[in-house]
Amino acid sequence: MKIQVLKPKFHVEECLDQVRECLEKGWTGMGFKTVEFEEAWKKYTGHKFAYYLNSNTVGLHLAVKILKMSNGWNDGDEIISTPITFVSTNHAIMYENLKPIFADVDEYLCLDPVDMEKKISKKTKAVIFVGYGGRVGQLDKIIAICKKHNLKLILDAAHMSGTKVNGVCPGTWEGIDVSVYSYQAVKNLATGDSGCICWADEASHNLTKMLAWCGINKDTYARSNKGTYAWKYDVDYVGYKYNGNAIMAAIALTQLKYLDEENERRREIVQMYNEGFKNNSLIKIIPAPFADECSYHLYELVVPDREALLDFLSSNDINCGVHYRDNTEYSVYKYGNGTCPKAHEISQHLITMPLHMWLTNDEVRLIIQKVNEFVK
Ligand SMILES: Cc1ncc(COP(=O)(O)O)c(C=O)c1O
Repeated sequence: MKIQVLKPKFHVEECLDQVRECLEKGWTGMGFKTVEFEEAWKKYTGHKFAYYLNSNTVGLHLAVKILKMSNGWNDGDEIISTPITFVSTNHAIMYENLKPIFADVDEYLCLDPVDMEKKISKKTKAVIFVGYGGRVGQLDKIIAICKKHNLKLILDAAHMSGTKVNGVCPGTWEGIDVSVYSYQAVKNLATGDSGCICWADEASHNLTKMLAWCGINKDTYARSNKGTYAWKYDVDYVGYKYNGNAIMAAIALTQLKYLDEENERRREIVQMYNEGFKNNSLIKIIPAPFADECSYHLYELVVPDREALLDFLSSNDINCGVHYRDNTEYSVYKYGNGTCPKAHEISQHLITMPLHMWLTNDEVRLIIQKVNEFVK
């Protein structure tokens, strides 16, 4: 059996119990477990508001859309973003006819505050910060720059489920307008596909509820809870079908119970990797600030010949990955090519090492041994 790079661990019996409850109750859509999950997520993170969605991608879209609507932005206005991310981060900007302007990354592979500030123009309205691999990077400095220039700040927290800084979930920091999480199939809190959007303000949260549910101003669950089923509602917007469902939320509720202990195990594996690679001068480890509270969704190395190492490890039954290709290499974002030299250079050398709950210490030692055997 090959060692996989990312592999979720589901607490199957408990998940099934939760799912069974949905099936027996006859409530598998929005509401019931989705509401229970929103409450659990608020309690866990400290966010004031949470709305459960069918993915992080749609959450980022709603974040951009609502900020555009509420602040009167125009088509063609700009949002500063990173080229080292999954394309959803940047697609969300494009969905609303806005333009991603790429800023370079720092040593944590997060937005570099210095380059970010240089990329501000008259058209800049907001910044999207990706907590790459769960890292908080220099988010505090990005917040300060956004305040100084009166820019909105969206946190793409797809990798950040469980990341804390001094016990606090960074998504709740003052100055962040909205944080969007992913519970996609291989994330730290894995479901099938789902996500959550957490606004700092109630008006945007309320607008989210409508826009995520076809623009309808009362959801089915809220209506059915009124005793008599109030069929009459108005449609205030041409909204979307972005809500999450009770089956996914049932799985999310179970997985959430294990998030902290599983992230602790991730950090144990990361420590073994760090020890194993620290004396190899050809390998660069990507550091994490507040490493003992990082969710470590990804563990990356920077190596001289990534393609050859991928092949060598694969021939030794070890699957690694690449997160991410510089987005400005993709046709739709090629206008940004050449604007982020550090990101461009590093993305040619990044390799994602296996990191998940199924890895044994012996496997981690084997991976370290094989990498060091090849990179010398
Ligand atoms: C940084 C980042 N942003 C956004 C997403 C999109 O998440 P989802 O699959 O939940 O839409 C991902 C998923 O891989 C991601 O890694």
